This record gives sequence, structure tokens and C-alpha cells, in this order.
Amino acid sequence: MKLTRRDAIKLGLIGSGSLLLPFSEQRPALAQFSPQVKPFELPFRTPPVLEPVRSDDTTDYYEITMKKARVEILPGYSTEIWGYNGITPGPIIRQQGGPPSEGGRQSVVRFINTLDESTSIHLHGMASLPPYDGYANDLIPPGYFKDYIYPNNRASTLWYHDHAVGKTFSHVYWGLASMYIVDDQFEQSLPLPKGEYEVPLIIQDKRFRADGSLDFDNRGNKGLYGDVMLVNGVPWPRMEVANRKYRFRVLNAGASRSVQLKLSTGDDLIMIGTDAGLISAPVKTKILRMGIGERYGFIIDFSKYPIGTRVILQNPILPDNVDRDIRTTQIMCFDVVRQESDDSSIPDKLRFVEPIPVSSAVRTRTFRFERNGGLWKINNKVWDKNRVDANPGFGDVEIWNFVNTGGSWIHPIHIHLVDLQMLDRNGRPPLPYERGWKDVFYLGESETMRVITRFGPNRGKYMMHCHNIVHEDHDMMTQFEVGQGGFDPLSVPAKPISQMLPL
Ligand code: C2O
Ligand code: CU
Ligand code: CU
Repeated sequence: MKLTRRDAIKLGLIGSGSLLLPFSEQRPALAQFSPQVKPFELPFRTPPVLEPVRSDDTTDYYEITMKKARVEILPGYSTEIWGYNGITPGPIIRQQGGPPSEGGRQSVVRFINTLDESTSIHLHGMASLPPYDGYANDLIPPGYFKDYIYPNNRASTLWYHDHAVGKTFSHVYWGLASMYIVDDQFEQSLPLPKGEYEVPLIIQDKRFRADGSLDFDNRGNKGLYGDVMLVNGVPWPRMEVANRKYRFRVLNAGASRSVQLKLSTGDDLIMIGTDAGLISAPVKTKILRMGIGERYGFIIDFSKYPIGTRVILQNPILPDNVDRDIRTTQIMCFDVVRQESDDSSIPDKLRFVEPIPVSSAVRTRTFRFERNGGLWKINNKVWDKNRVDANPGFGDVEIWNFVNTGGSWIHPIHIHLVDLQMLDRNGRPPLPYERGWKDVFYLGESETMRVITRFGPNRGKYMMHCHNIVHEDHDMMTQFEVGQGGFDPLSVPAKPISQMLPL
């Protein structure tokens, strides 16, 4: 693939104002490609679902050990990873949510750190209390553990991942990430595809050195763009499907790369959900754009394809990404291999997303996402755990204005605690599939966006940051505090493993 001048600037090969050498002379400065893997040969798989170690009337108790392991990701190569229970992605947790009267349950997840660096675990999408939200400075040192409490108050596709201050990129990239699914009675009552026809897709891009080890080169803290596309930890997998409908829960869990999902047949993805749950009604799209941290739900209807059809999930390159290899334009394939009846259907109405009226907002705040002095900043500031940049009253509705001052980078903006709705982007309505509850917003090049939410259901300090995890670490992160008197995020410290009692 051809390297443009813009790519070269991003790669740090040339300054934006400098005199250009011919490309043939610049090209050797590029890093090596990862060892080659033939696409669509490795079998698709999903991470195992974690069983609780114990359950009582209200709560399921889980245990996860963070540890190093060697695994085979590229055929014939051994790669060191850091995994939840030694695998990457880690095990998936599935939980019954909603109010206790409708069978909703709480989770307690014990995370045990046997690594040699401090970690923090964030369940992204959960309204956890501040000490259980994976606050960046609330660390579990090596040899320590912490029990996190999750209320499972809303049905959605969440994910858990490392959030250690200044180390989030390397820890997530080593492998500390996976999905967490909350279901509820209402969603179960819908005739959507279920069981083996409801499939998680955790998309990540990685780069490998010639010996198979992970390559962490993030180009001077600008971003890491891999040349191997993984789904659930497998490079370019091949999934065998029946000629029927499947429901997919997709998550972009890479470091920096945005993706655009598209079917090689030109058919629609039938969108049913955003980050924080189902949308009001299905909408069709031919192309689905996703920044890091975003989740979407969609249906693919394979019933129109004859047995033997191969449908490729493609990824047309976005200008923001630094692409060195055309292989990233494909992600995985679906081979329609068998006939099956299909008792599922897609209802016209899903879960009503009631728009928050603009008139209910009591104030507007503006956050500028910018780069200067070699750092990524928000309103010209970097992360400081002792500084709070916004203090919405408990229950207040506010409009937040996000401004990307840069013309060549996108920032997926993530707000902890709350689910929000996008009002507009550059004065225009959000994309049809973005019209639902979300907690990550794709703030494109030179874009301005307005989002709205009511602040709650908890009080206290929560982070907001760019979810390009390289930007987040250096140092595009801030915090807000909802109301007064919330729990201090540092009030439930990790304990030594020697003091650990059974759950
Ligand atoms: Cu997915 Cu603050 O993170
Ligand atoms: Cu989060
Ligand atoms: Cu960013």
C-alpha cells in the first residue's frame, strides 16, 4: 500500500513543514511487517464464559487471576501475553441484570495480581461506585488482590480492561481485556437470535516482531496500528455459519485503530444496539465505523446466501489510521456451510430510547481535545488525580461540547459512569446507528460534537478520557465529580494475597 505524505507525518518520518525526500528514501525507516498469516484459515472461537466460584440469593462471585502466559497466536510462534486467567481476550462474564424483582443479580469479581506491575480493572459501561470503577490511581500492586462489586443495573455489552495510570496501553495491549455481557428479562423476551447464534466479536489489531513477540512501538506515543487483525484473539478467523440470522456483539478493543465494518456482499448490517444497550428500532447500514471502546450490536442474515458462500467482513481503511499493510482491510470471514431453520426474528421495536430534551439541560461545558508540547491534552491540561474539571450536580442534565482541535487525528471520547446521547456532530444529526445510549463517541478530525446526559446514579469522581489508549496514557484524561460526598475512589485499597479469604 502506498504511503502518503500524511502517513509519513504521522509516522514521525517527516515534520509537517519539512522538505520532503523522495519516498523511496524514506520507506526503509518503517518497521518490519509482522510474520505472515494466511487469512481465513484459523478456526473462529469465542472466549470461554466464566463460571462463578459461588452464588447466593443476590450475588455471583467470580475469581480472575492476572498472569503471564505463552500462547500461540501466529501459527508456529509462541507469544508472551498478560491475560486474565492467562488467556487473551480473558474469559467472558455473562450476568443477569435489571432490578432484583426481575431476577437481576450483583457480581463480585476478585482480581488477583500475580504480574510484576500494578494494575487497575475497569468494567467499562458499568455504573460502579467510585472505589470499584478501576480508577487509574487505585492500583492493585503485584501480590495483591481486590474484590470489585458490580450492580449489573442495565443490559448491555460491556468490557473489562486494565486502567493503570500511565500503563493502560501496555497492559491492554499485553492482553488484559475481555467482554462482559449483561442481559435482562426484557431482552430475553425478544425473539432475537440467542445461544450459539449470539456471538461476541472482540476486534483487535496487533504487531509482532520476527520472533513472534508483541511489538509495542507506538511511534512516540502517537498511536499503535497493528498489521494483524484479530477476532477473539485469532488472526483473520474463519467462522462456519448456518444459513440463518446471527446476532453479533462487536467491540473494538485495539490500541488506536478505528475500523469500518462492511460485508463483501454489499449487504446490510442490521443494527440493533449501541454501547449501552438496544436501540429503539433496528436500522440498516452498509458500513459501521467504530473507534476504540465502542460496542455495537447487529444482525447478519445469512439466509439469503446459498450453502458454500463466503462472506468477508471487510475494513475499508480510514484516513486516521497509519496503515502499512493492506491486510488490515479484512477482518474475518463467514462460510455458510449448512442449512438450518431459523425461529428468530427482528422485532420492529426494540428498547425505547427516550431522548433527553435539550431544554432540560442546566448547563453546557466545553472540552477541547488537543495536542501540544508533545502531549495529548484536554482543555490544555493533563491528568492530575488532585484536580476535578467539572462538578455536575447530582441528577443535573448537562450538555457537553467536545471539540477536536486537530485536523488529522480522531479521538474516541469515553465518559465513565453515565450513558449519554449524542445531540449533533458538526451541527448535523448523529449517524442513524449512533442514536442510542452510548459511552464512547467518535470525535473525528476537526469535529465538534454535543452530547447530553443526566448525571447519576452515583456521586463521586469519575474519569473521562480519549480511548485511543496511547493518547489516554499521555495524558488525555480528566475527571469530573458528580454532586458532593461520593465515595473516594481510593477508599477501598487492594489487600495482600496473604490476607485473602475464600469468597
Ligand atoms: Cu474503557 Cu476509562 O475505559
Ligand atoms: Cu469506562
Ligand atoms: Cu485521542
